[in-house]
Amino acid sequence: MKTRVLGKQNALTVSAVGLGCMGFSHGYGPGPDHAASVQLIRTAFDLGCTFFDTAESYGAGENEKLVGEAVKPFRKDIVLATKLHIPEGITDVEGVIRQHLDDSLRRLGTDYVDLYYQHRMNKTIPPEEVAGVMGKLIEEGKIRGWGQSQSTEDEVRRAHAVTPITAIQSEYSMMERMFEKDVLPACRELGIGFVPFSPLGAGFLSGKYTSQDVYTGDDVRRVITRFTKENMDANQPLLDLLHQFADAKGATPAQISLAWMLHKWDFLVPIPGMRKVERMKENFGAAEVTLTEAEFEQLETKLAKIPIHGNRTDEDIAKLKDMI
Ligand SMILES: NC(=O)c1ccc[n+]([C@@H]2O[C@H](COP(=O)([O-])OP(=O)(O)OC[C@H]3O[C@@H](n4cnc5c(N)ncnc54)[C@H](OP(=O)(O)O)[C@@H]3O)[C@@H](O)[C@H]2O)c1
Repeated sequence: MKTRVLGKQNALTVSAVGLGCMGFSHGYGPGPDHAASVQLIRTAFDLGCTFFDTAESYGAGENEKLVGEAVKPFRKDIVLATKLHIPEGITDVEGVIRQHLDDSLRRLGTDYVDLYYQHRMNKTIPPEEVAGVMGKLIEEGKIRGWGQSQSTEDEVRRAHAVTPITAIQSEYSMMERMFEKDVLPACRELGIGFVPFSPLGAGFLSGKYTSQDVYTGDDVRRVITRFTKENMDANQPLLDLLHQFADAKGATPAQISLAWMLHKWDFLVPIPGMRKVERMKENFGAAEVTLTEAEFEQLETKLAKIPIHGNRTDEDIAKLKDMI
C-alpha cells in the first residue's frame, strides 16, 4: 500500500489507510471470536496495513490485549496507536498519565507506543500540561509521538506549542465535516497529521446497510441518529451520488468516500473499522483509487448541495449503557 507521513516533528510513516481495531471488542455488537480476530488483524498486515488503532477503554483493556497479541510477530514494522482518558479533578497529571501508559504497555505486550492520544479533552486540565508530560515520554522513548482526539483548534494550537503533535484523531467523513472549518486547516498549517475515525460514517457510506438492518448488544448504530430509518432514508441522495461515482470509476461507494478524503488532505490517514477480509481488501484498495482534479471538484460541488441528517455523538452513545 502507498504510505503517508503523520506529523513533521515526531513524524510517523504509515500505510495510507489504517485499521481501526475497536470493533473487535467494542462498539459494533458481537464480532469474530478471539482466534479469528487475531487472524484478521494479521491479514490486515499481510494486505499492506502498517497502522493499527486501539484504546485502553475498548473492551476495558481487552482490545489492547488482543491487538498486542495479534501484532507481536511484526510489532517493530508497524505504527501502534492507543489512547488514554485522563480523569477530571486529579492533581498528579503526570503520575496518572504514566500509570495509564504503563498499564497499556503491559496489555499490549510492548515497551513503547508509537502514537499516544489523549482520548477526550479535559475541562479542568490545560492542554499545555498534558503536552508537557507527553514531551517527557517522547524524550524517554516510551512513546514516539502523541495526539489528541476531538479537540478544538485552540486546544490543538496550545498543546502543539509545547510539544509538537503528530496527529489529531477526530470524526471526519462525508457525513461529519465539522472539523473542516478550523482543525483540518490548522493541522495543514502546523504540519500535524489527521486521522479520521468513523471515516465511513459507521459503515453507512459503504451503501451496504438498509433501514431494515437490526443492531444488537453494544452496537452504536442502535443509538446514533444517523441510523434512524427516517435519517437513513433522508440521506439516500448521498449514497446515490457515491454509487454514481463508484460506477463511473469501477470502484465501490466506500472506496470513493475514502479516496475523496485522501485526495482532499494529503496529511490525512483514515482508519476504517472492518471485521471481514473482503472489507479490508475493499477499504485498503481505496488507497489505489485516485480521483482526477475534475472528478474531485465535481464531487465537492455535488456534496455541498446534499444536506446530512443525523450524527454520532458521545451523548447518544452513552445511552447504550442502559440498553445492554
Ligand atoms: N477517537 C475516538 O473517539 C474514536 C471513536 C470511534 C472510533 N475510533 C477509532 O476509529 C476506528 C474506525 O471507526 P469506526 O469503526 O466507527 O469506522 P467506520 O469504518 O466508519 O465504521 C465501521 C463499521 O462500518 C462497517 N464497514 C467498514 N467497511 C465496510 C465495507 N467496506 N462494507 C460494509 N461495511 C463496512 C464495519 O463493519 P464490520 O466491522 O462488521 O466489518 C463497521 O460496522 C475504530 O475502530 C477506532 O479504532 C476512535
